[in-house]
Formats: sequence, structure tokens, C-alpha cells
Amino acid sequence: MFDFTFHNPTRIVFGKKSIAKLSALVPKKHKVLITYGGGSIKKNGVYDQVALALKDHDFIEFGGIEPNPRYETLMKAVELARKEQVRFLLSVGGGSTLDGTKFLAAAIEYTSADPWDIPTAQTQVQSALPIGCVLTLAATGSESNGYAVISRESTNEKRAFFSELCYPQFAILDPETTCTLPVSQTLNGIVDPFVHVMEQYMTYEVNAPLQDRQAEAILSTLIEEGPKVIADPNNYDARANVMWCATQALNGLIACGVPQDWATHMIGHELTALYGIDHAQSLAVVLPALLRNRREQKARKLVQFGRRIWNIDDTSEDEVMEKAIVRTEEFFQSLGMKTRLSQYGITEGLEQVGIRIEKRNEKLGEHQDILREDIDAILKLCRD
Ligand code: NZQ
Ligand code: ZN
Repeated sequence: MFDFTFHNPTRIVFGKKSIAKLSALVPKKHKVLITYGGGSIKKNGVYDQVALALKDHDFIEFGGIEPNPRYETLMKAVELARKEQVRFLLSVGGGSTLDGTKFLAAAIEYTSADPWDIPTAQTQVQSALPIGCVLTLAATGSESNGYAVISRESTNEKRAFFSELCYPQFAILDPETTCTLPVSQTLNGIVDPFVHVMEQYMTYEVNAPLQDRQAEAILSTLIEEGPKVIADPNNYDARANVMWCATQALNGLIACGVPQDWATHMIGHELTALYGIDHAQSLAVVLPALLRNRREQKARKLVQFGRRIWNIDDTSEDEVMEKAIVRTEEFFQSLGMKTRLSQYGITEGLEQVGIRIEKRNEKLGEHQDILREDIDAILKLCRD
């Protein structure tokens, strides 16, 4: 096992009617900025619950943060927050609103240069406003990590950053809020966490059996509970289980002491930037292709995954690996997720992905050995 430090400071407040607990969690002494997306919270009653809980707080609002939150929009919120001397940010929505809010937290304090430096120049965040969140779409794990992914419309870029200062202080997770999600977003909330686990598990063996089994527990739970939320969107228990899986998949725990891949995400981010498909949609297409391309490097873990998760008992390891990839793909398809780019009408210009990644001098994968030609080969497998 590799050496590691684990510290996750986010307080998780989980369960029915937990939004009411906001009044005690949000500080009263400062002005608060509530951030949200395109308006789902105003239709499903979440906004009303938040406003009621904060009736004795001094707050203002900023709405309109898009899925794949845009720098251009967020800079308007930076301006507002500076003008209004906001000292606490409350994100109410999915991963995009929260990632955008994390960017705000750092950008409001970053007055010396253009805050676009934060995701692009890997400028270490020196100061950030405190954040809290009410999560209405469990998928990204953003509610208890320090990552954020920001898009820039003018350059068609999608870039990520991490800061210890961007962990939310608290995250309110009421599974009931997720019952109003459209099917496509419910689907994203199963596939994204599944792939997060794979990025931290499907690498090479370092004798970390506990982390392996923690990862496998999340995968098996998603395989069991995912179909239940698709079949019955109001199944509270299944919603709660999927929501908790999504948090556990990217709160740092299963990453302790193990190698990590993240190539599926880096390729997926480029596909979203170039073609506009949802984040999880990009992952469902790339993961099976990447596993096929990296079969040799990932052989031991792929066999373990096939045997433990899909109960494949063939004696031939080659058979186990092939069937494990097919079963994973079939799982995504059974939920209603597409697994080929051509199904989205995307067939042209795929070489741009590798060109962009190479230009930034990024080497992908747990061995940092996935180069432009490998990305091209993976995307070829993704096509049809
Ligand atoms: O904007 P509103 O009107 O709120 O509607 C949203 C949005 O259209 C809707 N929605 C959210 N909760 C709802 C709801 N609709 C009805 N009822 C509810 N309860 O869902 C749509 C998608 O929301 P979004 O926040 O974009 O989805 P998600 O949570 O999947 O976030 C995706 C973003 O997170 C990034 C992705 O790249 C993408 O930009 N990621 C962030 C990570 C992190 N911070 O750790 C890691 C991930 O790998 C990922 O890259
Ligand atoms: Zn993801």
C-alpha cells in the first residue's frame, strides 16, 4: 500500500427533512449567497425549504449556473458577491452548481489576476470563502471533496482543479430531493459514481485488500440499487442507497494508498467540451473502450473485478476479462445508457481529443503511459 494522508472535513447531514437543519449550520453573522442552477429547485419545493430554514439569515441569490458550469456566468456571481460583501456561499443543486460555487469561493478572494488561472495554471488556492451545500443530484461526489470542474465557453475548454479549501463545510443530503430528477439525470447518478470507483480501483495490485473491498461494496450496491431507482423513481430507500454510494465513491476514502487512473474522466471531459454530451454519458462510452485497450496493464484487477463483481467463474483469465467488460457495458445499457459515440451522432473530429490533451502535455492513466495514439485507439473503439 502507498503512504497517504486522509482528511475529509465535510459534515454530512443525511436524511428526510434535513434541509430544515440549515438554520443551525449556516452562520448568522455574515451575508450569505445562495447559488443555484436553471430553476429545478424553484419547481420541486427545495428552494422553499431552504428559504424557510434561512428566514432569519441575511441572504442574496444567484441563479442560472448551467450544467457544466461556465466561467463566463460565474464571473458575474464573483462581481455580485464582491459588491455585496458576501462571506458564506450556499450551493443548492447538483454537482455543477456546487463546482461553480467552489470556483466562486476561490475566485472572489483571487483579486490579483484572472481567476481562470485557478483551473488552468494550477495556481494553488490561497484563500476561499466557506461553502455549504444542499445536494439535489447525487452523482459527482462534489459534496464532500475539494474538486471542481469548470467550463469556458469562449475557448470550449473544460478544466478541473482541487483545493483543500474547497471542501464544503457541510453537505445536506435529503434523498427525497432526488425524486424529481429526470430519468437521464438519475442514470447519470448511477454511472458517474460507478466510474469514479473504477478510476480508483481498476489499476494495479498494491496489496490494499480493504480499499479493494470498499470499492467493490460500492460497485455491487450500485448494481443492486441502480435498477430500483430507474424502475421506481420514488423508491426512497433505493434513492438513499444510491446517494450514499455517490458520496462514498469520491470522498477520498477508497483512494487511500492506491494508484489512480482518471483517464476515462480526462477523455470524457474533452468529449463534453467538444460535443456537449453529459459528463456521465461520456464516461459510459469511454470506460468499456479504455478497459479493452488497457487489458494487459489492468489484467489482475480486471480478473478480480470479473470474479468478485460479476461472479464470472471461467478458468481462463482472458475469458473472465472479456466477460467482465461485456457485463459492465451491458449493465450501463440495461439502465438505458448509450455506450457508443455514434449513438449520439458523434463520428467526426475525434482526433481533437488527443490533440488537446497532448498540447497540455498531460499523460494519462495510472502509469502515465496513455499518449495521443492510445487515446485515438480508445476513441476508435468508442465510435461504433
Ligand atoms: O440546473 P437545474 O435547473 O437545477 O437542473 C439540473 C440540471 O439541469 C438538474 N437537476 C439537479 N437536481 C435536480 C434536477 N432536476 C430535477 N430535480 C432535481 N432534484 O439536473 C441537471 C444536471 O445537473 P448537474 O449539476 O449538471 O449534474 P451533475 O451533478 O451530474 O454534475 C455534473 C458536473 O460535475 C462535474 C462534471 O464534469 C459536470 O460538470 N464533475 C464534478 C466532480 C467533482 N466536483 O468531484 C467529479 C465528476 O467526475 C465530474 O467531473
Ligand atoms: Zn465523474
